[in-house]
Amino acid sequence: MARQIFFDRTGGPEVLRMREVPVTAPGEGEARIKVDAIGVNRADAMFRENRYFYPPNLPSGLGYEAAGVVEALGPGVTEVAVGDSVAVLPTFTLTAYGTYGDHVILPAVALVPRPHDSDPVTEAAAWMAYVTAYGALVEGDPVAKGEHVLLTAATGGVGLAAVQVANRIGAVPIATTRTPAKKQRLLDAGAAHVIVTGEESLTERVLDITDGRGVTTAMDPVGGPGIAEVIGAVSSGGRLLAYGLLDPRNDPSQGLPAVPGIDLSLYTLFPVTGDPERRRNAIDFVAAGLADGAFTPVVDRTFDFGDFTEAHRHMESSAQFGKIVLTVRH
Ligand SMILES: NC(=O)c1ccc[n+]([C@@H]2O[C@H](COP(=O)([O-])OP(=O)(O)OC[C@H]3O[C@@H](n4cnc5c(N)ncnc54)[C@H](OP(=O)(O)O)[C@@H]3O)[C@@H](O)[C@H]2O)c1
Repeated sequence: MARQIFFDRTGGPEVLRMREVPVTAPGEGEARIKVDAIGVNRADAMFRENRYFYPPNLPSGLGYEAAGVVEALGPGVTEVAVGDSVAVLPTFTLTAYGTYGDHVILPAVALVPRPHDSDPVTEAAAWMAYVTAYGALVEGDPVAKGEHVLLTAATGGVGLAAVQVANRIGAVPIATTRTPAKKQRLLDAGAAHVIVTGEESLTERVLDITDGRGVTTAMDPVGGPGIAEVIGAVSSGGRLLAYGLLDPRNDPSQGLPAVPGIDLSLYTLFPVTGDPERRRNAIDFVAAGLADGAFTPVVDRTFDFGDFTEAHRHMESSAQFGKIVLTVRH
């Protein structure tokens, strides 16, 4: 039997439960993974609350991120072999697959080979965050060397990865936090400038830093009323990639405001991970950064697999700096 974290009603962290399910054979194009570490993501919490961009089919598993070892292959799998150490890159919906288990079945295309001696906690924390930042800042219309990028809620997993990706390509990351105590940590993590929202005007500080021009690219996972301040910090002809809905005042059914002169768009990593060539390029970029030490995933805290409720509560407290990871003992 395998252990799986699931929920059969939507709501807060208390709806999550553990159950035993039979270990099944992977189907066509699938692999079964013995999971060593699971990255906890805001998307998991939003899905659990039915605030994500698609609803759960109850009872539902969850989880986009993990690292482990391949233990069985379905027909037609060529990407990985039994015994490979792998990390998980989300290419799937949470209604079809999930990583919150000790043995899980996933599409083989979602598996990224990782060095055998790599740390599963770090790898479970890395891939979704860095590929999200890569797709926004590097792919397609890359941020040029010396350009400023604005990264709001930069103390999150994606924000901290985006700081490192921006530095990797020679851009200048301007990071924001609501929490004064996290300011120095953001500077230590590579942010060139940190704005503590609530203490200072985001728009004014960015215009000051950029000699009145504003940034050419902003990544915002918050939305809500604060988006006006972010819009004010983007240069004419610049772009704002809205990639999350952290502010609970967001109404997911409402689109983004039209802002003349600014390309304001919803951004997700799924077109990157869903396309074989784009996925390969993303994996190469992130793997190179992890290998040469430019990318060092920031893990805030690990929880034992059984402490999933506490892990979700910690995430929702927003006290974290970086990723939260569940560790699985076999
Ligand atoms: N579009 C995509 O492809 C994609 C991929 C991955 C994640 N996401 C989404 O991106 C968002 C961020 O993910 P993450 O993993 O980086 O987040 P996270 O690790 O949970 O951290 C988010 C940070 O945001 C700040 N924050 C939390 N609630 C806030 C609020 N209401 N208003 C302003 N700031 C708030 C907190 O920092 P301070 O205390 O410093 O303010 C917190 O440390 C989530 O909504 C997630 O679903 C989207």
